[in-house]
Amino acid sequence: MKKIAVLTSGGDAPGMNAAIRAVVRYSIYHDIKVYGVQRGYKGLMEGELQEMSISSVGDIIHRGGTILRSARSLEFKEKEGQKKALNVLDVFKIDGLVVIGGDGSFMGAKALSEQGFPAIGIPGTIDNDLAYTDFTIGFDTAVNTALDAISKLRDTTSSHERVSIIEVMGRNCGDIALYAGLAGGAEAILVPEMPYDLDEICKKLISSNNRGKTQSIILVAEGVGSATEIGHVIQERTGLEARSTILGHIQRGGTPSATDRLLGSRLGGAAVQLLIDGKSSRVVGIKDNDIIDLDIHEALSMKRQFNLDMYNLAQILSI
Ligand code: F6P
Repeated sequence: MKKIAVLTSGGDAPGMNAAIRAVVRYSIYHDIKVYGVQRGYKGLMEGELQEMSISSVGDIIHRGGTILRSARSLEFKEKEGQKKALNVLDVFKIDGLVVIGGDGSFMGAKALSEQGFPAIGIPGTIDNDLAYTDFTIGFDTAVNTALDAISKLRDTTSSHERVSIIEVMGRNCGDIALYAGLAGGAEAILVPEMPYDLDEICKKLISSNNRGKTQSIILVAEGVGSATEIGHVIQERTGLEARSTILGHIQRGGTPSATDRLLGSRLGGAAVQLLIDGKSSRVVGIKDNDIIDLDIHEALSMKRQFNLDMYNLAQILSI
């Protein structure tokens, strides 16, 4: 392994820079040249590769976003696009590719591997929606961002004796809502993995209001539906004043937490080590605080297990 390339793809996530830094420095330490690809697979198809140096990744470990920029590419999903990318990799004489991103990005790495090009995936997405790993890079920071918002919203929600409905990211995965909701003491957590009954929630809000509770927080994962609409229904059915807040892309930015920097650093080093060991078509992840790797096909076919214990606990604690 003489030359590798690294790219970030899909939604950015805090801690991606820590992973890029680790990939670059781990490679250089092992006498491997490393190229940064700008704008994910789009940049790969267009030959946007630049050699990285030790200092090119200096002063980034604490920064959110990705210095390599990110993009979602429809063209790369097609064989033609993949052919373009393989040509570019050939022209630059790249021997292996590290892809930092979510499941869509891993599909790209899988496609390249299937065509004989060594590729390794690092899970980088705030969604935490990859089944094979306990956590993805960016999730912890996003949860903390949501938690900070919950705390701030609690102040005003309490002053005005309202119900606050907070929409967090997560189209198919309710982990941000679950973790931030449990940590933030939410009265209800609505996630795509679990059915919910708005009437039951309204009943609960009314009885806790009668008990003298001055404010309630409800977390909604975006995949469940619109917090604004849910807020209207709650206000109408309970007579309580409701306000909705959509946290949106704020959750994707900010200084990465220690957990995400550590995860990015550990996974970055592990991915390069796999390429050095001659491995391909694998993804790295974390299980019980140990770094693991497994076949990309296997990883992508695994079904996520929603943490029912945490969900049930959140319900008990919000009586
Ligand atoms: O995949 C990460 C994610 O942040 C999702 O939670 C969200 O639904 C989506 O990306 C938003 O994507 P975009 O940046 O294209 O608006």
